[in-house]
Amino acid sequence: MTRYRKQDPELTRRKFINAAMGGAAAVGTLSLVSALGSAKPVFRLTPALAPPMAGDVLVHADPSRYGEPVKVSDLGLQLVRAWPQGKDKNGDPVIRDQDPTSVLAIFKYPAGQVQEPTDLNATIDGQIVAYGDRCMHAGCNVGNNDQQPGLMNCPCHSGQYDPKLGGKVIGGPPPAPLPQLPIKMDGDKIVATGFFLSRPYGYTKEEDWKAYTEQVKEVLG
Ligand code: FES
Repeated sequence: MTRYRKQDPELTRRKFINAAMGGAAAVGTLSLVSALGSAKPVFRLTPALAPPMAGDVLVHADPSRYGEPVKVSDLGLQLVRAWPQGKDKNGDPVIRDQDPTSVLAIFKYPAGQVQEPTDLNATIDGQIVAYGDRCMHAGCNVGNNDQQPGLMNCPCHSGQYDPKLGGKVIGGPPPAPLPQLPIKMDGDKIVATGFFLSRPYGYTKEEDWKAYTEQVKEVLG
């Protein structure tokens, strides 16, 4: 968390971090580490700690609009940060903001710009894409590339990603692309249709991520 606070210049509005990724996030991280360190993870998964999953509504993470559903009209070549919002066992809304790996970056591109290896079926109209926003190198939050709108730059070690090409690494040390989140429109809301399509930060193997999602489904499904 210290790294995040010091090194992400975009998120100078500390309220976001303090409110959304405070002490409880440390608990989430510990739970995740526990999960990753065991062939049969045992941890207490709560709706707020769960990763983005099918049915979640994407809501603004910025404190000025925290919790408001993201609308298409909010989107463009500058990333919009969002959290997934699911439901608890009573059906009440829960913003899944207690695991930093769940934070998302959403873009909208002009028609024709989003191309493979983006999973086009996981986009909205081939123009709106969502990714996990934690860098695959060391977990910093990735921000906008100020010189090239529509690209992403990691403030920690200058990792660069192209969200219109599947979150592909186009510079720096990240070892893998950002994980794409499959999305669709539901009325005027943007809704996840599944888990991240590839491993997010914190997982070194795709099979570990798949195993984790199976456990999430068992616990919360
Ligand atoms: S954490 Fe992003 S490049 Fe190192």
